[in-house]
Amino acid sequence: MKPIDLRSDTVTQPGAAMRAAMAAAAVGDDVFGDDPTVNRLQEVTAERLGMEAGLFFPSGTQSNCAALMAHCQRGEEVIVGQEAHTYRYEAGGMAVLGSIQPQPLQNLPDGSLDLAMVEGAIKPDDSHFAITRLIALENTIGGRVLSRAYMADAIALARRRKLSIHLDGARIFNAAVKLGMPVKDLCAGFDSVSVCLSKGLGTPAGTVLVGHRDVIDRARRIRKMLGGTMRQVGVLAAAGLYALEHNVDRLAQDHAHAQMLADGLARAGLKVDPVQTNMVFAAIPADSVAPLARHLEANGIKALVSPRLRLVTHLDLDRAQVERAVGAFDAFFKLRTATAAD
Ligand SMILES: Cc1ncc(COP(=O)(O)O)c(C=O)c1O
Repeated sequence: MKPIDLRSDTVTQPGAAMRAAMAAAAVGDDVFGDDPTVNRLQEVTAERLGMEAGLFFPSGTQSNCAALMAHCQRGEEVIVGQEAHTYRYEAGGMAVLGSIQPQPLQNLPDGSLDLAMVEGAIKPDDSHFAITRLIALENTIGGRVLSRAYMADAIALARRRKLSIHLDGARIFNAAVKLGMPVKDLCAGFDSVSVCLSKGLGTPAGTVLVGHRDVIDRARRIRKMLGGTMRQVGVLAAAGLYALEHNVDRLAQDHAHAQMLADGLARAGLKVDPVQTNMVFAAIPADSVAPLARHLEANGIKALVSPRLRLVTHLDLDRAQVERAVGAFDAFFKLRTATAAD
């Protein structure tokens, strides 16, 4: 039986066609700008997201960090969500490496930031304060989609207060597919957007930062400083080009699979958050966490089980596997309920 891995959409294996594209890639030394496949990926991604220029990074973490550092000087500030990857899950890189002060705000239940609170957090021009320079949003955030109308309001606020605005769009294609709108329309107005190729799009590695040419030029120097400049990396860029061509529209399948999982968990009696894209969140009773983890493992299912269970769908999961996972959860919770009733 094929294993079922619900830990993240980063666990996918490159398939035969992607590997063939990688093997056939023309390459060169990207430090000299000589890698035609990297150059093409940067151009294609920038074009697709409606931006002037693009820059290939090994990871989303480094791309975000370079973007924040390109916008903010030492001692300047970014307004960001408590739940944002840039703030919470990037080892404090913006502060450690960029000397950037984060001003975190609690995310609202839909993942957005209250724009009145954002405006209230902008520091006055006074020598006591750090200089607020940037707003950073994330879409999707915890699987939730920020609407275009909300992002347009955030962009308008940034413009009015003369701030820059960055989007961690690690899963922006999931948002675009969910909203049924061109990704370009979703990104319009941001100064920079970081888009991961190694999540729902299924490449082994790689993120492209796109944005205004001057931001990308600054980010190129910072990438060098961070040690992220690579050489014949067209082999990875080829995977990215393949993914942009073949793996975007199919994200709708991942979203449908996530909905199937959510429906199954709800039928098993769990409280499940509404599903928007490829992530399912459900509350697991504390005394079920360890036994559920053992049960899933015994059934060949990998999942990060905690009181707030997160399951993620991706291109290495087919419908039959999703049904099998639903069956495994169902069997576990039916047995628990029956045992509790005894
Ligand atoms: C929203 C978001 N941004 C950025 C990243 C960082 O990407 P990477 O793992 O490539 O560093 C992740 C990774 O999971 C993410 O979920």
